Amino acid sequence: MKRSTTSTAIVAATALAAFVTSFTTTFAQGGGQAPPAAGTPPKPLVPVAASSVANNPDTYVGEYVTMTGAVEANLSKTAFSIDQDKTKATGKEVLVLAPSLQKPTDQNGYVTVIGQLIKFDEKEVAAKLKDYQIDLSAADIAKFKGKPVVLATAVINTAGIDIAKKPIPPMTADDLALQKIMTKLPAAQGAVRKTLDSKDAAGAREQATLLKESFTQIEAFFKAKNNAEAMKWAGEGKSHADAILVNLGLNNIEAAKTSITPLGGTCASCHGKYRERMEDGTFRLKTAG
Ligand code: HEC
Repeated sequence: MKRSTTSTAIVAATALAAFVTSFTTTFAQGGGQAPPAAGTPPKPLVPVAASSVANNPDTYVGEYVTMTGAVEANLSKTAFSIDQDKTKATGKEVLVLAPSLQKPTDQNGYVTVIGQLIKFDEKEVAAKLKDYQIDLSAADIAKFKGKPVVLATAVINTAGIDIAKKPIPPMTADDLALQKIMTKLPAAQGAVRKTLDSKDAAGAREQATLLKESFTQIEAFFKAKNNAEAMKWAGEGKSHADAILVNLGLNNIEAAKTSITPLGGTCASCHGKYRERMEDGTFRLKTAG
């Protein structure tokens, strides 16, 4: 079918673009952002049709693939099989496990899945997908044993939607409380530098006071969370803001300036570990390590 080939190619291209975008974003952030366990291909993605995989699985074992085909069956909440032909079952299905699948795939619809291809083995799946519980029936586990399986991090349908993409969680009350404090800080940080440079002692005092008060609030926030490390960073930030105020009191602007860089260092330390950036550019408090 001509139409199917074209749409398949478009889906594949969309999939790749979407994946490369999220892949790049993850790395552009740097700083303490652990790469996603199953989503990070250490080698280039190999575009492949499900039929090629079914015919020559060994060629692709261990590879990270963008595999295109028609959905044969939804096997569980997180598993389905792909076949090359949507009009008939060829008996050459490839299993797909997509731990973050948000909804069932459209039966017989074309999809492009992205992920590592391995041979299906319960132990190996458990080793590769740490928090995942295989939810296939015993019969399917037996049927697919030793057959190729893609551990998918993305499942793109013909509408170009990645149905394995987790929704962005709403901001919690904690996130909102922190956000309220945080959003004032970059401006205050810039202003304290500027006022010190222009020897505007009154202006610098105002900004350093705001920073000190903010760090005090941040420290209290993390105290309530029993987070000693974040508290320590907030406490250090407060000391640096305080040192600016003390030196301003002594009329020593040059000495006050020496606190600016270490003060900024406390922001970076805490963000590296306890701040998480969502794909939409908003931030969340990161609690797990
Ligand atoms: C002890 C930890 C800690 C310190 C110190 C800290 N932050 Fe944050 N910051 C966070 C966390 C956690 C978030 C995410 C908040 C959320 O859940 O929205 C955040 C978020 C932010 C945001 C994003 C706000 C938004 O939602 O748009 C900015 C900007 C920011 N911080 C600036 C600063 C600056 C500048 C400093 C230093 C002067 C600083 N922070 C110090 C923990 C910290």
